[in-house]
Amino acid sequence: MRITAALKPLRIGPVEVDFPVVLAGLAGYSDLPYRLICRSTGAPFCTTEAMLDKQAIIEARLRRGLIKRDPADRPLAGQIMGSDPEVMAEAAVALRDMDFDVIDLNFACPVKKVLSRKRGGYLMGEPYLAVEVVESVLSTVPDRPVTVKLRRSFKETDKDNRAFWRIARAAFEAGAAGICVHARSVDQKYQGRADWAFLSTVKREFPDRTVIGSGDILTAEDALRMLEETGVDGVTAARGAIGNPWIFRQARDLAAGRAPFHPSLAEQRELIERHFRLASETFGPDRALRIMRYFGIRYSRMHPHPAKVRNAFVGVKSAQDWRAVVNEFYSC
Ligand SMILES: Cc1cc2nc3c(=O)[nH]c(=O)nc-3n(C[C@H](O)[C@H](O)[C@H](O)COP(=O)(O)O)c2cc1C
Repeated sequence: MRITAALKPLRIGPVEVDFPVVLAGLAGYSDLPYRLICRSTGAPFCTTEAMLDKQAIIEARLRRGLIKRDPADRPLAGQIMGSDPEVMAEAAVALRDMDFDVIDLNFACPVKKVLSRKRGGYLMGEPYLAVEVVESVLSTVPDRPVTVKLRRSFKETDKDNRAFWRIARAAFEAGAAGICVHARSVDQKYQGRADWAFLSTVKREFPDRTVIGSGDILTAEDALRMLEETGVDGVTAARGAIGNPWIFRQARDLAAGRAPFHPSLAEQRELIERHFRLASETFGPDRALRIMRYFGIRYSRMHPHPAKVRNAFVGVKSAQDWRAVVNEFYSC
């Protein structure tokens, strides 16, 4: 792939990172250990898994250590979901007091249970409420960059995306430091193609604002192609980063005109074992094993025999099983 324009750093208010390909918020995946792994492979900025507004408030009050942090894991956006403007503002204060570098409001999550509780993507169907939430958060926390994660619309059939424009304009008017746009509707969930042409339109509409694109970044090539084709300021690697944390290094290689790095089996093993150690330190050995089982399944995609390795990780029930799979498939 030929890169025609030099990649610019990504700015989110006062936060500036050297490279515009960042780790997306990913429930079940963008936890502290995986964020540290992705940083080690070149991710300059990460977002937490979506947290409930109340969860952030309780954590700030009780300091139970349920929201795992590490000084090496910065700059970091803490992402919250909710729909009560006052509670969301209180949660934003909590994140600021916990020293998150950016506060990200999730209006994009399509999970049924989340929508039925009037959170996440529900707000794309309730633009007036969404604007109230944004204004409440921004007026309460003017001293920390706030970003909003949006979808193109609530329904796929909503072609004029009126709610999107209403929320995005109000967010910037109220002082948002940026928006991240997943170029699908909420009811599309993760199906169908993301509408990259919509991202170009959004960037044209907000040429001086930070717009981050999301959707169908499955490879490093996709990441650079989205930057080039749509003009967005940054892109998030989401499904493309699950099991391939090297996507960040690969994107940096491509941007520098180098062939993208492909990890050897030994390099894959080193990273997977380091991930296990970080997960054990963070969550304790039992939870780490459960987490690493599904990460192992995802890591198998980088192996020369993905189906076999995947099946082997699916069968893991104990730490011994785990070690046996790693020894069998990742020894050179
Ligand atoms: C398993 C999974 C969990 C996700 N969790 C979150 C989340 O917690 N917060 C968020 O903003 N987006 C979340 N997303 C959406 C992604 O950040 C991204 O916007 C979406 O996957 C589209 O990008 P892609 O097509 O490149 O995967 C999640 C997506 C997946 C697949």
